[in-house]
Amino acid sequence: MSSVAWLLLAAVSLWGSRSPQLAALDPMAFPNEFRQWAHPTTIVNESPNDPRYGYHDVYVNEKSLDKNSNQGVYPDGSKVLLLFYDLEKTPNDYGRGQLKNYLLMVKDEQLYMKTGGWGFASFAPDTTRQVLDVQKECWSCHSNQSRTDYVFTNFSQ
Ligand code: HEC
Repeated sequence: MSSVAWLLLAAVSLWGSRSPQLAALDPMAFPNEFRQWAHPTTIVNESPNDPRYGYHDVYVNEKSLDKNSNQGVYPDGSKVLLLFYDLEKTPNDYGRGQLKNYLLMVKDEQLYMKTGGWGFASFAPDTTRQVLDVQKECWSCHSNQSRTDYVFTNFSQ
């Protein structure tokens, strides 16, 4: 194997390790600080046959809030995280069931040009990144939302 290939391999395995320095460079790293973000909404989907069936908490970082003074366009650096829970129904209430996964969108017009300027990622409940076909598994739906910069959730703050 050439030394260039070895170097590449070393870089890839370093990237995969959970070095905080490298995580800071990866725009799609799991945002551990999200509990300090704004939590503009919760969505309950109660149609059992819908793939979105569940209880969804949405968190947005501070940068995202600038979209309100930017004609609804999210600036680079915006991050939106959805916590996807099972739905737990009691006779009088809806609650969070088990956490199924985390869904992340990160805005960078240059990096994610092919998907409306948004990077998409999915994480298991223990925050390990899941392998995705973004075009098929995320963009297929979010691409229909061009009027609101590919974000479904509407909030102003
Ligand atoms: C079947 C259509 C569909 C697919 C596929 C889909 N989404 Fe969404 N997504 C939605 C809808 C509808 C909402 C808003 C309502 C809700 O929470 O169900 C949403 C909300 C979100 C949000 C909160 C911000 C917003 O747009 O409201 C994030 C983050 C998100 N999705 C990420 C992802 C990621 C990452 C993937 C791929 C793993 C993905 N989505 C796949 C339909 C979809």
